[in-house]
Amino acid sequence: MKFLPGIACTALCAAVLSAAAAGNPDSPPAEATALRQFLGTGGYLTWARESRSHRSAGPHPVTVRTYLNPELKASLAAGNQQHPVGAAAVKELFGEDGKLSGWAAAIKTEHRSRVGKGWYWYEVTSTEPGARPVAAANGVPLCANCHAPGNDFVLSPFPLR
Ligand code: HEC
Repeated sequence: MKFLPGIACTALCAAVLSAAAAGNPDSPPAEATALRQFLGTGGYLTWARESRSHRSAGPHPVTVRTYLNPELKASLAAGNQQHPVGAAAVKELFGEDGKLSGWAAAIKTEHRSRVGKGWYWYEVTSTEPGARPVAAANGVPLCANCHAPGNDFVLSPFPLR
């Protein structure tokens, strides 16, 4: 599936996304509203995860904990340099008080990564249901540029610590 940034998800596209999500509950929807719902209801909590939250080596405040869906975990374990469509990572963001303060997510939507355009990038720095995400599109340059040195844009050390 291919979604271009800036193009609103139509009713048809939303139907396709929810059908895709229904078919594979471990592959989160690459659309802001549906993804926010997936995150808020803890859809990723069964995934492989880091043993504890830790200070971010990047700009993600303040401590973070990364989760990998089964597709991404298997692909990293196989040593792939290109992850399959549907591979996804979620990172919980925690504030100074140790409370959950938002999420960052990356979802592979195209076979080829094309300088990060084959990944859907999402980040919201609040857990309020109506909060506006700071990123919610394929190929967001801010995210993709810093993630470029990773293993097909994945920066967390694998196996997860
Ligand atoms: C300046 C560098 C930098 C920028 C910009 C950045 N990240 Fe990250 N990101 C990291 C690092 C480093 C990690 C590894 C975990 C950690 O230390 O936080 C990471 C981890 C992640 C993860 C967990 C999967 C992985 O790759 O390890 C996700 C998901 C993620 N970032 C999403 C985003 C999104 C979405 C954006 C844009 C809004 C973004 N990141 C911008 C540096 C960055």
